Amino acid sequence: MNPETAPRLCVIPGDGIGQEVIPAAVAVLTAVIPHLQIVTAEAGWGTFEKYGVSVPDETLVAIRACGAGLFGAVSSPSRQVAGYRSAILTMRQELDLYANIRPVQSWPHVSPRPDVDMIIVRENTEGLYVGRERWEDEGETAVAERLITRRASRRIAKKALELMQRQNRHKLTIVHKANVLPLTDGLFRDTVRAVFDGTRMNADERGFVIDELLVDVAALKMVAAPETFDVIVTTNLFGDILSDAAAHWGGGLGYAASLNWGDGVALAEPVHGSAPDIAGKGIANPIAAILSGALLARYVWGLEEVAERVETAVAHTLAHETYPQLTTTQAITQSILAVL
Ligand code: NAI
Ligand code: MG
Repeated sequence: MNPETAPRLCVIPGDGIGQEVIPAAVAVLTAVIPHLQIVTAEAGWGTFEKYGVSVPDETLVAIRACGAGLFGAVSSPSRQVAGYRSAILTMRQELDLYANIRPVQSWPHVSPRPDVDMIIVRENTEGLYVGRERWEDEGETAVAERLITRRASRRIAKKALELMQRQNRHKLTIVHKANVLPLTDGLFRDTVRAVFDGTRMNADERGFVIDELLVDVAALKMVAAPETFDVIVTTNLFGDILSDAAAHWGGGLGYAASLNWGDGVALAEPVHGSAPDIAGKGIANPIAAILSGALLARYVWGLEEVAERVETAVAHTLAHETYPQLTTTQAITQSILAVL
């Protein structure tokens, strides 16, 4: 492939086990995409300690230039530190990565049940995460604003639509709380519906089934009947909570992949954090990072068959290898590479 069209990736290992799982994911990606062009950049708490900023401008420039990034994790201090802002929140905002895509599927052995296959599409820029908190009433009252715009609701709906068309998925569940929040969540629900109502299907195409659930009912269903979900679209905080619950069905944090997706730029990251309790021991599970790399192949580079190859290799490894073969980062990575 000529270098002009070869996929490019900005690799940002970050803190803690990010330094261990990201090299594993890069090894897998370069095995399946030999012409992948890689640059490395810095972000995170370690970067803040070195330079006084958690995401240097050069990092943002590099991700933009590549159009794709793969990020490990950040450690955020549990106390407030002057001048520090979470690296991942900074990158999501600066790059306007407005959609958070969290697929959850059952994997051999590690999933509690075999029949889960859903994608959660979470709005990634507004809702309660706009950070508009203030004191009122001389400190007796704390207020947080929850912002929902038609623009952000429309673009997240369009992303969900694009994803469903590309992945041949037909059932969309809009999760909201419009009974209590008729303005904000009513706006979200109606805007999403309008985007899907506006799609014209040919007679031989299957249409979309649009469903909606209040978030509390959705939470119960996520526990009791996760196999009934296909694609979920929801606001920021509801998506944050529901997707962590959903991750349980995929085998937990070691298997949960995500893609922060904007227009012309995307940043994949395993859902887990820097795991200081196991960092440096060589025992972090690299599969969440590897599957995050597969999401770049699928959604950013349009290499569906590459994404499927990686996912099939992961499934094969989980089905055929047994402990103790799968207890170190290196052993898991080697087994997956061997299948590939
Ligand atoms: P965590 O996800 O780092 O760890 C939670 C637990 O899961 C730990 O026991 C850890 O050892 C285990 N774990 C996580 N990933 C694993 C993997 N790949 N293989 C095996 N075990 C794994 O969350 P925690 O402990 O709440 O936070 C630690 C640090 O990470 C904090 O500084 C937090 O702010 C940060 N964090 C960063 C995130 C990000 O970068 N997007 C997300 C969540 C937390
Ligand atoms: Mg979370």
